[in-house]
Amino acid sequence: MAVLKVARMGHPILRLVAAPVDDPNSQQIQRLVEDMKETLEDAGGIGLAAPQVHVSLRVVIYGIPGERMAAEKEGEPGVPLTVLINPRIEPIGDEKDVGPEACLSVPGLMGLVPRWRSIRLRAFDGAGRPFEREVSGFHARVVQHECDHLDGILYPQRMTDLAALSFVEEARRFSVEVAED
Ligand code: NI
Repeated sequence: MAVLKVARMGHPILRLVAAPVDDPNSQQIQRLVEDMKETLEDAGGIGLAAPQVHVSLRVVIYGIPGERMAAEKEGEPGVPLTVLINPRIEPIGDEKDVGPEACLSVPGLMGLVPRWRSIRLRAFDGAGRPFEREVSGFHARVVQHECDHLDGILYPQRMTDLAALSFVEEARRFSVEVAED
């Protein structure tokens, strides 16, 4: 296992549409997922997409601490570390919420981003099994943020008001809620 270098905004790999994974059970993918887990743990974020570690494949990992979920909705449990291979998402309904996001590829900044409130998620898990689930709220936000990385999109491109882009330090000073994605 290895901690991988995280690409930052401006690196062309972050703008590519990543290729689908042919075999989720291959050694190459299993090793990539293990390295991504170690990288995410080292960086201390919520989610990581393969293009962020310079691998242009449709692989995402994320996990949401219980405190972060409870901050949104009391009693809401956290999400254990989840692997998404070749994920596909579609909105449920047409409601969007604007909320704070940050990104390991855009260090030091945060912004307010509109996202679908609820989505249907289809993917293969880390063991190569297909699954489908509906997620909403902050969980849906994280999934949309990470899946955007697979299409070469960073959260500032989703912002409708760039006046809501700030340094995390300043946002903390002025008490804007910050999500560490
Ligand atoms: Ni990100």
